[in-house]
Amino acid sequence: VRLTNLRTPCAVIDLGRLERNARSMTERVHRLGASLRPHVKTHKCVEVAAFSTLPYDHSPSALGETKYGPITVSTMAEACHFASHGFSDITWAQPINPHRIEEAFVLMSQVERFNLLVDSHAATDALEAYAQRTGQGYAVYLKVDVGYGRAGVDPHSKMAIELARRLHASPSADFRGVLTHAGHAYACRSREEILEVAAQERDELVGFADRLRACGVEVLEVSLGSTPTMAVADDLTGVTEVRPGNYLFFDRFQALIGACTNQDIAFSVLTTVIGSYPDRKSLVLDAGALALSKDPGASHVDPDCGFGLLSTVDGARLLPDLNLVSLSQEHGQVAVGDSLDPADFPVGTQLRIFPNHSCLTAAKYDRYYALRGELIVGAWRTARGW
Ligand SMILES: Cc1ncc(COP(=O)(O)O)c(C=O)c1O
Repeated sequence: VRLTNLRTPCAVIDLGRLERNARSMTERVHRLGASLRPHVKTHKCVEVAAFSTLPYDHSPSALGETKYGPITVSTMAEACHFASHGFSDITWAQPINPHRIEEAFVLMSQVERFNLLVDSHAATDALEAYAQRTGQGYAVYLKVDVGYGRAGVDPHSKMAIELARRLHASPSADFRGVLTHAGHAYACRSREEILEVAAQERDELVGFADRLRACGVEVLEVSLGSTPTMAVADDLTGVTEVRPGNYLFFDRFQALIGACTNQDIAFSVLTTVIGSYPDRKSLVLDAGALALSKDPGASHVDPDCGFGLLSTVDGARLLPDLNLVSLSQEHGQVAVGDSLDPADFPVGTQLRIFPNHSCLTAAKYDRYYALRGELIVGAWRTARGW
């Protein structure tokens, strides 16, 4: 099947770019002395995860003895999906929901390792109560906030030390260590700014781990990472593992903040022009909010970034003068800039859209088409739901 034979809108992965992104992150992280536990929430897809969790040597002899490396998930649905496909070392990187402890413990008994996260005494109470009732142990990280302000304990608070001590002392808990995600890196405007956040993320978390060790708390893992910080980090001293996820696909947001270039973006949506209006200098595409998500993108860097970057169908020529200015449910509206003529994009023309936020866009699709050259070489299913 050729790319141009696909029904639109649909999700397309450029395999050459995917391989390059996977390889360059793995090499960087290993060079800096940490291990990689990639986040699979971006793609929720076993075939994509294989690129970041298997050795590059895909020869049958190498594959015969290897198994998938560790991964990070954001939902129980992802955890169960990947566990059922042979992934055996999984961290659920969201503070545990007390109502889902039972499911989590069931999965824990089925895989080699299923790590949970807490950032409160309340969630720890629920875990401890369940563990005591069933006689089962659990592996757990303490979630730390190093500046994002979303979830996690304040590493400078008394409560953070107390909670770590409690987990370390619990006979039911296998306290793994500390974990953070520097989501505030997404507010950066350049590679230099991201480098500063990467250093701050590392210093805060490693400093906290050292303070815990000084009070006798054993900290095995110091786990951090977002795609922007890990795409630029040059020093991971004291860090044991990193968990970027978006880097396999990248997107327009990452390119605008300086975490990648437009030529690194491996994920795109194939779309068709269904309206061409020379008088209004506009086009209408068959990809709307349900095919792309309404993520506003890095508008702090480029207020006119629209809802994605368009290119010719082969992805070879970017078309920044086609600005995807508005989305309704199933329509995308494009303003055609001065350098282009809508008549050159008649109804039926196929285009590619590199979306603002590949994680949110990818989650709209139940399969991805894997593209090599002009040919579709796979249709890969994804996990759905929670
Ligand atoms: C806890 C956690 N770890 C890792 C990641 C991966 O970061 P990124 O999406 O920047 O690759 C995320 C993303 O939201 C996350 O929430």
